[in-house]
Amino acid sequence: MKRFFSILLLAAYVIFLAGCFRDGSAPETDTELFVIGFSQSGSESDWRLANTDSMIETFTEDKGYDLQMENAKQQQENQFAAVRSFILEGVDIIVIAPTMEEGWDTVLKEVYDAGIPVIIMDRSVNVWNDDLYLTNVGSDFLGQGNRAVEWLEGQTEGEELKILHLQGTYGTTAQLLRSQALEDGVSAHDNWELAGQICGDFTEAKGYEAMTEFLSENTDFNVLYSENDNMTFGAIRALDEAGITYGEGGQVRIITFDATSAALQLCFDGKVDLCVECNPLQGPSVEELIRQYRAGEDIPKQVYIEEALFTKDDLTQELIDGRTY
Ligand code: AHR
Repeated sequence: MKRFFSILLLAAYVIFLAGCFRDGSAPETDTELFVIGFSQSGSESDWRLANTDSMIETFTEDKGYDLQMENAKQQQENQFAAVRSFILEGVDIIVIAPTMEEGWDTVLKEVYDAGIPVIIMDRSVNVWNDDLYLTNVGSDFLGQGNRAVEWLEGQTEGEELKILHLQGTYGTTAQLLRSQALEDGVSAHDNWELAGQICGDFTEAKGYEAMTEFLSENTDFNVLYSENDNMTFGAIRALDEAGITYGEGGQVRIITFDATSAALQLCFDGKVDLCVECNPLQGPSVEELIRQYRAGEDIPKQVYIEEALFTKDDLTQELIDGRTY
């Protein structure tokens, strides 16, 4: 009798399993995670590290997410490979923080054809059809540049300005639009000129290198417009080595983009004149857009993160110490 019940139990279990795997898939559970394929562009700056942390802290398993992140190490080809692997895996959504603005048409069309929605985060992509992505959440880079130019105008009325322009990686939205704002500003002012345009690729090492090379030939400038904080840190090292003073009462006014805590500290200490905020904490905004998408709500095509300007007068030590990046 006991043997009869064991056989019955075993048969019931086999029938149960057969039901579960009829379509070849694993049995569904109530705790299935929402899978996000995230292609991060790289880890070139403190800003980027904070941006990555924000995504990791936001999309946790506890909250029902499975975040699969690939770091492209600044190479667009690596991003294409990551996105194609997300398609093969059949993730629920793809988030891309693009390196370059151009070149996305083919791969985004492949994602579109696979029926997977895409969120573009931080920078933008320039594609023939905006339907290839759901939404773009990030910074208003042109607005950041324009605010910096307006501030400079207000500080230097009538002064002759020779501006050294330290640019980020060519072809990225952050570089293109911050550069556009400055170039427009220079064209609009007879008393402004560019002392030079050099590229520091958004890194401290290249910022230092480019600045050192420039200073070996030309020290005749009174403004440094640096397109991110890490390049500014490198440039400042080069200025120190060349004996050029900067900041409050110095030869060179410094404008820097990002407003990381280290840059804010320099500003508070009178070494940097203006910090233009670029907020890397974008995970919660991406999460809200995913919530709207899953709820079938209308989603705005472009969402800008709120950002501010900081001069010494806007800062306190408490504010700087409270900054998480
Ligand atoms: O796209 C955001 C920019 O890229 C930030 O200014 C910079 O620090 C980063 O590397």
